[in-house]
Amino acid sequence: MSLAEAQNIYSQKLEEPEFKLIQDFMLNNLGVKLSPIKIVMVNSRLIKRLRASGIYNFPDYVRFALSAEGKRTGELQCMIDELTTHKTDFFREPEQYNFLMDVVMPEFSQQNNHFFKIWSAGCSSGEEPYTMAMLLNQYQLTHAGFDFSIAASDVSNGILSKAITGIYNEQTLKDVDQALVKRYFTPVPSEGNNNTFAVNKILKDKINFSIINLVDHYKFLPNYFDVIFCRNTLIYFEDQAKRDVVKKLISKIKVGGYLFVGLSETVSQYSKDIKQVSPSIYKKIV
Ligand SMILES: C[S@@+](CC[C@H](N)C(=O)[O-])C[C@H]1O[C@@H](n2cnc3c(N)ncnc32)[C@H](O)[C@@H]1O
Repeated sequence: MSLAEAQNIYSQKLEEPEFKLIQDFMLNNLGVKLSPIKIVMVNSRLIKRLRASGIYNFPDYVRFALSAEGKRTGELQCMIDELTTHKTDFFREPEQYNFLMDVVMPEFSQQNNHFFKIWSAGCSSGEEPYTMAMLLNQYQLTHAGFDFSIAASDVSNGILSKAITGIYNEQTLKDVDQALVKRYFTPVPSEGNNNTFAVNKILKDKINFSIINLVDHYKFLPNYFDVIFCRNTLIYFEDQAKRDVVKKLISKIKVGGYLFVGLSETVSQYSKDIKQVSPSIYKKIV
């Protein structure tokens, strides 16, 4: 690409008709609502796709990405990767992990069941399921006979690949206790002076990663999760999509099990089958 073409890309502007096509696609296929002011954000996030796809204007790019050819070539997935928000952290909203370990696990231990199943729905780049895996592995060390598995899913192929790779830099690991870093991560050579660490196999082996769009049917998943985390994901959904997804998630939890959403989210209005037991934590009661 010549300098002139590169400069021309950065002056491209996403106009209303193409933004509307994107809004409709995101709402109808992912349940995600893009309000009118998001046009600026979408514009800036998709500029790099104009460059990567070699289609240097928005009208042609958007129509291509949304076409059957766009789906076949993977451009549609790349567009989804750019338009979904992936902010996450290890031990994000730590009070919820405290509830998991201080309330949910002792309750589980009293049941006659030793195999704990948890799902991180909307797992982004993996920090959430790997946090679960560290905590549950530690729990396993002190509870003979206990075992667990973690399902981790996201709609974005790009971010899920990052989760599966399980490589994080020092900055990303800043909130992880050094003893846990030492036990569960291995330093890997990297360029520059940023230290990089790979998640150890003992954690990876406990997690099944898959692409799942939460607004689709996921009948193939079992109905017996002890706990589902769907945090900071529903927040981007339009109300009806949120309602439908919450109902489907609840149908996948055992009676007595728990649904965790993000600390700024409330879902009690969507189902009578759950009771709020702590901020943004719900117990399935029937
Ligand atoms: C902000 S991240 C939250 C990550 C993590 N749960 C946390 O709280 O740190 C939201 C994730 O939801 C995913 N997402 C958005 N719409 C989705 C959908 N329809 N189905 C599944 N995942 C979706 C995004 O790709 C993104 O990775």
